[in-house]
Amino acid sequence: AVTAAAFTSSREVDNIAHRGGSALAPENTIAACALAMAQGADVCEFDIQQTKDHQLILMHDQTLARTTNVEQVFPRRSPWRVSDFTLAEIRRLDAGSWFSPRFRGEGVPTLAQGLQAMSHSKVGLLLEVKHAPSSPDIDKRVAAELQEARTEWGDERLAVQAFDWRAMRTFHHMRPHIPISLLGKPPADRLSELAGYVKGINLPHAGLTAEYVKKAHKQGMKVYTGTTHKPAVIRRLMSYGVDGIMTNRPRRLANVKLRL
Ligand code: G3P
Ligand code: CA
Repeated sequence: AVTAAAFTSSREVDNIAHRGGSALAPENTIAACALAMAQGADVCEFDIQQTKDHQLILMHDQTLARTTNVEQVFPRRSPWRVSDFTLAEIRRLDAGSWFSPRFRGEGVPTLAQGLQAMSHSKVGLLLEVKHAPSSPDIDKRVAAELQEARTEWGDERLAVQAFDWRAMRTFHHMRPHIPISLLGKPPADRLSELAGYVKGINLPHAGLTAEYVKKAHKQGMKVYTGTTHKPAVIRRLMSYGVDGIMTNRPRRLANVKLRL
């Protein structure tokens, strides 16, 4: 089994449950990550947003509408922006029923709860910071919470990623021990310049080539890609030597790995 090898030096490709494995269970919940692990995920990818009272929660969208019952609980608060709600209010929401009645009562986790719930497992966490004008201090807060979690998590099972590369450079200076991945596709000729603070590139699989993977590896960077559960695509990406594949269906990826 690969233990959060996204952040170490495994030869095996990491099975990364995108948003915690969003085809199996409500995305960005602890239930999703637990199920993903049971189905072969090595790493859970989670998204981080900040509430009105500066608490960090696991949530993809900038609004609560799609993945909670906020419209029923707070009908007059349209457009239900995360940044307009306090954590106490968000704790009243159900983040599971929209997906299936089986997940009724699943809450919106805080980052701290996600870290706590998974700390005794073998899973790694790839934490995406969702930057928004309403939360300019989100990186500082993520850095502080990850510092608190360092004793339990060590330096090899957590990584942070974002589309905002400049913010990630600053984050690196705050917490140099935490590996940083950039979302997007830096031009190959910029990789050496980024290598000072970047440990991984996370880019869409369409357009990814074996040559790009080789160039990133030459700079000491990991390559993560996805999102897919299609066996032919997974095999192609593995033939390039990628380090991790993001999927909403970790069992499918685990099965492809088993058959190789
Ligand atoms: O593929 C990386 C992914 O996590 C970024 O997209 O929208 O699912 O957060 P999104
Ligand atoms: Ca994400």
